[in-house]
Amino acid sequence: MTAEQDGVRIRRATPEDCEFLVELLTHEGVDPYLAVVRPRGRERVLAEIERSHTEPEEFGRFVIEVDADGSWRAAGAMGFEIANRRSRIANLGGLAVHPDFRGRRLADTAARLLQRHLLDDLGYHRLQLEIYGFNERAIRHAERAGFVREGVRRKAYRRGDTWVDGVLFGLVREDLEDGRAS
Ligand SMILES: CC(C)(COP(=O)(O)OP(=O)(O)OC[C@H]1O[C@@H](n2cnc3c(N)ncnc32)[C@H](O)[C@@H]1OP(=O)(O)O)[C@@H](O)C(=O)NCCC(=O)NCCS
Repeated sequence: MTAEQDGVRIRRATPEDCEFLVELLTHEGVDPYLAVVRPRGRERVLAEIERSHTEPEEFGRFVIEVDADGSWRAAGAMGFEIANRRSRIANLGGLAVHPDFRGRRLADTAARLLQRHLLDDLGYHRLQLEIYGFNERAIRHAERAGFVREGVRRKAYRRGDTWVDGVLFGLVREDLEDGRAS
């Protein structure tokens, strides 16, 4: 699967992307913002890439690329996992843009591409994600990308020696059909 818009594309990660993904996920500008339990090491990242190919409708690991004078350069990552089969809900997660590529709002375009793929191609009805309360940049991104803020899990997660909120966002098919988030 590959989808492209405005010089940004997303495609399923392959084993050749493993080195880039490990470097990205362990970068000091990325690591503190992702869930502590998210895989960052080579073996587990490779296992995720494999699952993304063996269970493509239920699990996905994608590389975000930018058009750099005619060739595509890896700039970030994102993913999803099925949360509820009957109600066709997917959890989104693992979004990161490498600090060298920040500030161009690549994540907004990439999020729109992934939303379309999940709703139109894979038939999901609801997409949901959760962002640490202190991650204001990601919260602004989610709002720009059309996700609707649905609530807060107060002091839900322990980071170091403090408890931090999880801010919940969701997008349902009807949001795009109504044109509110298109
Ligand atoms: C969230 C994230 C994916 C957004 O990346 P992005 O598409 O580059 O987002 P933006 O282009 O909006 O850049 C982020 C902000 O930095 C500003 N900025 C501008 N130039 C910048 C630069 N060179 N470097 C960093 N930030 C810059 C932007 O203006 C923007 O500010 P705003 O939110 O007030 O508009 C990215 O910040 C990231 O990878 N963060 C770490 C991981 C993370 O938080 N993931 C989400 C977990 S839920």
